[in-house]
Amino acid sequence: MDRKKVTIPALSAKKQRGEPITMITAYDYPGALAVDEAGVDLILVGDSLGMVVLGYDSTVPVTMDEMINHTAAVKRGTRFAHLVGDMPFLSYQADAKEAIRNAGRFLKEGGADSIKLEGGAALAPIVKAIVDAGIAVMGHIGLTPQSASKLGGYRVQGKTASAAQQLLEDALALQEAGAYAIVLETTPDRVSEFISKQLAIPTIGIGGGVGCDGQVLVFHDLLGYFDRFSPKHNKRYANLKPIIVDAVKQYVADVHTRTFPAAENSFTIDDAQFEAFVQAARSTVVHSDGQHAEEGEALGKIYG
Ligand code: KIV
Repeated sequence: MDRKKVTIPALSAKKQRGEPITMITAYDYPGALAVDEAGVDLILVGDSLGMVVLGYDSTVPVTMDEMINHTAAVKRGTRFAHLVGDMPFLSYQADAKEAIRNAGRFLKEGGADSIKLEGGAALAPIVKAIVDAGIAVMGHIGLTPQSASKLGGYRVQGKTASAAQQLLEDALALQEAGAYAIVLETTPDRVSEFISKQLAIPTIGIGGGVGCDGQVLVFHDLLGYFDRFSPKHNKRYANLKPIIVDAVKQYVADVHTRTFPAAENSFTIDDAQFEAFVQAARSTVVHSDGQHAEEGEALGKIYG
């Protein structure tokens, strides 16, 4: 089937048809090539970059420049998926002008098709300002990792009637502000499904249950590449970390036993050229007393 670049109207049409939307994170060129070839609708360059690629303890330290560099690399490997750049902590919360400029960098320098930011009704004016500037915005509510400290940790959100009501109001405010989709992170399945049904725009769940309009997972979690822990919402479709460790162990052993590199990994020189080189090398190999090497000695030095 002819694949087309995924557009926002195409995502909206999927919601209307009840067809699930797929999103996955990617952070570099080879990762983007693989997930784009696999046929996902959206690729998110998430600020989870900070934790799964850069080794930070949270997403808070991630900078705009880090996000832009990785978004540009992912863009080079993306042909069909809609590419979303994730705005890092404090790149959009302080004021609308700064938010617009930073969102614009994702499109101009990173090649993203849209941006994502965390926050509900309180962030709706910023979302509207970015959308009014011509930049498509994906919202993100529920567990918003950039404010995990304020939320008291990485906890399920919307577990009480009033917290669920707040989530619904946040989602409606984002939709009203012009967001084209909303990530629902770590929210009870029935709450996510209820909210999804109230919205005209698609919801994309991560720990949001099967009633969301789409799903997103973190590349390293799905592949078992980052194995320090696997969140409850994750499903590992592969277990890459032990495969990588085992392959590198085999390489180390092969180097130690000189079974790598083998002849097929090495390059050759003509006999005559090599002979001429060894003869010429005799005049280059000089003893400490200033004498040139004897015939055959240069070869001995080379094979030492
Ligand atoms: O940063 C990220 O990877 C995300 C997803 C978990 C939605 O925001």
